[in-house]
Amino acid sequence: MEPITIKLGPYTSTVVFTQHESAFESDAAETVIVADENTVRFAVGTDAARIVIPSGEISKALPTVERIVDGALEAGLARDGEMIGLGGGVVCDIAAFAASVYMRGVPVVLVPTTLLAMVDAAVGGKTGVNHREYKNMIGTFYPAREVRIVPEFLASLPEREFRSGLAEVIKAALLDDAELFATLRLRRDDVLAREPAVLEYIIARAIEVKARFVEQDFTETGRRAFLNLGHTFAHALESVTGFGTWSHGEAVAWGIAKAHEAGVALGVTDRGYAAEAREMIEAYGFETSAAVDPDRIIEAAAADKKKKDGRVRFILQRALCDTFSSPIETDVLRAVLSER
Ligand SMILES: NC(=O)c1ccc[n+]([C@@H]2O[C@H](COP(=O)([O-])OP(=O)(O)OC[C@H]3O[C@@H](n4cnc5c(N)ncnc54)[C@H](O)[C@@H]3O)[C@@H](O)[C@H]2O)c1
Ligand SMILES: [Zn+2]
Repeated sequence: MEPITIKLGPYTSTVVFTQHESAFESDAAETVIVADENTVRFAVGTDAARIVIPSGEISKALPTVERIVDGALEAGLARDGEMIGLGGGVVCDIAAFAASVYMRGVPVVLVPTTLLAMVDAAVGGKTGVNHREYKNMIGTFYPAREVRIVPEFLASLPEREFRSGLAEVIKAALLDDAELFATLRLRRDDVLAREPAVLEYIIARAIEVKARFVEQDFTETGRRAFLNLGHTFAHALESVTGFGTWSHGEAVAWGIAKAHEAGVALGVTDRGYAAEAREMIEAYGFETSAAVDPDRIIEAAAADKKKKDGRVRFILQRALCDTFSSPIETDVLRAVLSER
């Protein structure tokens, strides 16, 4: 697979597809690897120092940044060194954040090990930690020098985590890649069986979609927000049902179906397209209905931080690869959320 170059303002990130044995190569004077307790076993063939954090979202907080900084200091990491983040989105976000502030910034390489981190968290330059009840409250913009994709890492990923990442791949297809959409339909069984060649293809295509939206955002503000397709609904569902009840991807898949239903109700989304997208979402085993109180979802969505003029904007689609954002009236939302 060809490398993908992403230009983000003054930064350039390169995404390379590589083998396990070359994933930790480095020309830097000193390298430290930040991993979690499940991903540190992938760090082979390197004598770099390891900083191991507990797995899970709970680690994505300032005290862990201090631990990483302490570990880097003990390893003698200086500005000519490099930090490698090896893990899911949690490790990628916190390792990149720590690298961005350590000695005012050391280069970071990300080696994502979950599908979600490969197609989303490791790409695009957003880093951060949670603070109090707020997700990603403290963070920086600091793209990785290189993102190294090793698809074979996905072999051990629990099914639910794998499918959570697949929802973001489906989202990428709907947003900007008709060919990926076709592949996801035609090769569903191979995708779900994690057939290496098809995995590599869908990962590369989904990264390219994200790359296009984040790159364009530097010239044409607002495009990056389209990557939030399904996410205003998803965040509301995750918060109303308690985080973890629905995985992020399950919530996103449901949220995309709801965004399309709202679009149909508003007369802006092509009915045939909405039905096609829903069919694919369901074919991947995602639920497109949820037993939740519509008003609680509406209330949670209104609390979402992504507001303009005090109104929550939703990402809607007219058709495949045709996206825009708009507020939605409460009565329309209530009608859509009441449908089962
Ligand atoms: N920066 C961004 O633009 C961006 C975008 C999307 C998501 N995120 C962030 O990503 C985080 C979620 O990432 P995630 O879903 O990867 O969760 P995660 O990092 O918590 O990983 C999920 C679980 O899988 C384990 N794991 C990782 N790789 C494995 C493998 N190959 N085999 C077996 N187990 C493995 C981890 O230890 C963890 O227990 C959130 O904090 C979210 O905010 C960031
Ligand atoms: Zn998401």
